[in-house]
Amino acid sequence: MDVFEAIYERHMQANLKPDAPPRALIEKLLSAGVQAPSHHKVRPWRFVILTGGGLDKLGDVFAASFAERHPAAPAEAFTKTRALPRRAPLIIAVGVDQPAEAKISEIENIAAVGAACQNILLAAQAEGLAVKWRTGEWAEDVKVKEFLGFAPDQHVLAFLYIGYPESAVERPPRPSFDDRTVWIE
Ligand SMILES: Cc1cc2nc3c(=O)[nH]c(=O)nc-3n(C[C@H](O)[C@H](O)[C@H](O)COP(=O)(O)O)c2cc1C
Repeated sequence: MDVFEAIYERHMQANLKPDAPPRALIEKLLSAGVQAPSHHKVRPWRFVILTGGGLDKLGDVFAASFAERHPAAPAEAFTKTRALPRRAPLIIAVGVDQPAEAKISEIENIAAVGAACQNILLAAQAEGLAVKWRTGEWAEDVKVKEFLGFAPDQHVLAFLYIGYPESAVERPPRPSFDDRTVWIE
C-alpha cells in the first residue's frame, strides 16, 4: 500500500474481531515502529505486547487500581473495568524512556515515540488491521506502569488496541490544514 493511501484511509476503529493477528504480523508492526526517527539515536520506545491471558492480567490490574480509588463502587463497575482490555485481541502498550543524559530532552523522546506509534498505525492500516489509540487514566496509573515494567516517572504514550475490523466503517472527513498554517515567504 502506498504511504499516502495508508495515511488517508487510516482512521480509528474500536469494533474489532476477537482473533489476534499472528505473531509475525505483530513483529512486522513493531519493526515499522522502530523505523521512526529519534534524536541522538536513543530509541526511547518500549513496547509491551498483551494478548490472550495477558489482557486479563492487565484487566486485573485495572480493576485492583479502580477498587482502591473507588472502594464503594458497585460490583458491575469492577467487572466492566476488568473487561476493558478485552475490547481488542491485541494491545501494544507503548512507554517512553526518560532521558538518561543532560543532552537528551524529554519532549524529544516523547515525540520520537509518537512517531513510532504513528508508524505502527500506518503499518497496521496497510495490513488490513484497525487500531484505536487510547491513554486515559490507565496511562497515568502507577500500578499499571509497574505491571508493564515501567518506572513511575515513565510516560505511557499509548495503549494501541489492535485487531481486524468488525465491519467497514466510513472514514470521517478531516478538516484542512488551512486554519492551522501560516506561510512565511
Ligand atoms: C495520544 C493520544 C491519546 C488518545 N487517547 C484516547 C483515549 O484515551 N480515549 C479515546 O477515546 N481516544 C483517544 N485518542 C483518540 C483516538 O485514538 C482517535 O485518534 C480519535 O478519536 C480520532 O480518530 P482518528 O484516529 O480516526 O483520527 C487518543 C489519541 C492520541 C493521539
